[in-house]
Amino acid sequence: MSEARKIHKAVIPAAGKGTRLMPLTKAIAKEMLPLGRKPVLEIIVDELKSTGITDILFVISEDKASIPAYFKDYPGLSIDWTVQKEQTGLAAAILCSEDYVKDEPFLVALGDALITPLDPPHATTRVLDCYSRTDAECVVIVQSTPKEESFRYGMVRPARWDGQYFEIDLLIEKPSPEECPGEYSIAGRYAFDPSIFDCIRKTLPGAGGELQITDSIRLMIDNGRPVWGVPLLGEETRRDIGTFPVYYEAFVLLSRDDPDFDEAKQPGQTHKYNFR
Ligand code: G1P
Repeated sequence: MSEARKIHKAVIPAAGKGTRLMPLTKAIAKEMLPLGRKPVLEIIVDELKSTGITDILFVISEDKASIPAYFKDYPGLSIDWTVQKEQTGLAAAILCSEDYVKDEPFLVALGDALITPLDPPHATTRVLDCYSRTDAECVVIVQSTPKEESFRYGMVRPARWDGQYFEIDLLIEKPSPEECPGEYSIAGRYAFDPSIFDCIRKTLPGAGGELQITDSIRLMIDNGRPVWGVPLLGEETRRDIGTFPVYYEAFVLLSRDDPDFDEAKQPGQTHKYNFR
């Protein structure tokens, strides 16, 4: 792999308000909600570590001091953080990382997007693989999604397949089912060339009045730069921990693998669950 296309740094935007998880998110940052024994964010940090990432930057809001406090002296990784003063959209959050990533390519993992299974090689490994093998300036993980749900996501159109990856020629953030350009939604992991920062600076407010990274990536394509998609495969699933039903589902999914969840697995364990 060419050294110039090897990615060492990752940025995790974690500044969102978590409005749909109120009142819980008044007590605890959305990204610090437990999934079994660990906060969501630690599961994502461990995923990135398993792919070979060595340096991570959290982009947080002023009220999320619990995040740097929790990750102080985290073993095996260099972790830093920056505060985003105003939450004007995902593209604006990513722009806050410009001084940190400098002129290196970097990964972005959304701080509330869980992709299972967690075991290595994690799906995110394929984003790094696709970035290193192609001349892409951006690679996104995508998941096949019904058109009726397109209004929740950034949706992409595959133009040309090469093995298990495809080049993208159109992206639209939160389209209606009628405008939806294809069956794949963006699923919370991105690799970027630093040229994304100029595209972000040229991005105008889009869906929801926010600066959308999907629109910045579209500017890359308009500039003739290649953008690729990496589909989730088999059982791989993305869950955005942004609503109670998804949070409950993810909590049970990850707790089920915990040796203390199933009392039958614990000799001498006297506790019996009673969910009635
Ligand atoms: C963000 C992105 C969107 C992507 C989604 C997936 O949306 O803007 O393109 O599909 O994450 O996690 P949000 O969930 O912040 O509305």
